[in-house]
Amino acid sequence: MSESVYLNGQFVSREDACLPVTDRGLLFGDSVYEVIPTYAGIPFRAEQHLDRLQRSLDAIGMGNPLGPDEWLEVLMRLCDTDPDQDRSIYIQVTRGAYDIRTHRPPAASDPNVIAFTAPIPARDSRIVREGIKAITLADTRWHRCDIKSTNLLANVMAQAEALKNEAEDAIFIRNGFAREGTSSNLFIVLDELLLTPPNSDEILPGITRDLILELAADAGISHAEASIDESELRQASEIWLTSSTREIAPVVELNGIPVGEGRPGPHWQRMDQLYQAAKERIRLRARSGEKHEP
Ligand code: PDD
Repeated sequence: MSESVYLNGQFVSREDACLPVTDRGLLFGDSVYEVIPTYAGIPFRAEQHLDRLQRSLDAIGMGNPLGPDEWLEVLMRLCDTDPDQDRSIYIQVTRGAYDIRTHRPPAASDPNVIAFTAPIPARDSRIVREGIKAITLADTRWHRCDIKSTNLLANVMAQAEALKNEAEDAIFIRNGFAREGTSSNLFIVLDELLLTPPNSDEILPGITRDLILELAADAGISHAEASIDESELRQASEIWLTSSTREIAPVVELNGIPVGEGRPGPHWQRMDQLYQAAKERIRLRARSGEKHEP
């Protein structure tokens, strides 16, 4: 059975979900997006993701085509298709399709809205046991990385470079400071202190990042939001890359050199347990019949 795709107010099959070739998202990357994980049919941190979508739309001068309740309804409908399978929901809002291709944005926009789901792969036991490899690369992205825009060519090229180096991800370095991964935020452990770069227009304000900071605060884990220079990155005893779909990936090798002991470290083990427990709380809610987080 073909999965349902939300397209401008309707749920249609993937085959029937079409947009005009003049869509500004396609021609100019004139669009923003979100990726929301769902566990046992409940969207995780939906409110925070929808808030960030609103901030992205505000930043590019677009109105939100749907209100928060309407968005939630779309998310719930997409989750309902297969609540037993953990899925991520992809949302994209483009500035719409117009007859004439021009960089100048139209006075009144007629957005296109799409949303669809993809299975979240089961936890990879190899990553839990052995971690991942990463490289560092110059950050060639623009200066509004806080907007979750679909202009992801630099990120895609960095992933290609990581692949060439047999690494799973690349950490962007700008002006001597480590910023984030190609599709993930960065944490390090340095002298027993958990550090992550502060939110700015040079990184995406990650929802997983916020959750980890919350979990660290609740568990009394020493942490701080502070810029991380390249030498601190190299000295770190642990490096993690975090995102809604990847959760917390421990980096065990950076540019071919082991990080710490060269295996997922004790701080990662602890945080991963806290993160898995947060997911488990969502599953418990689902079992008691709840449809979304309070
Ligand atoms: N990306 N930084 C970048 C550049 C990202 O693309 C992402 C997520 C993150 C982590 O954000 P969050 O914790 O809210 O997922 C940080 C998504 C998963 C993607 O593009 O598929």
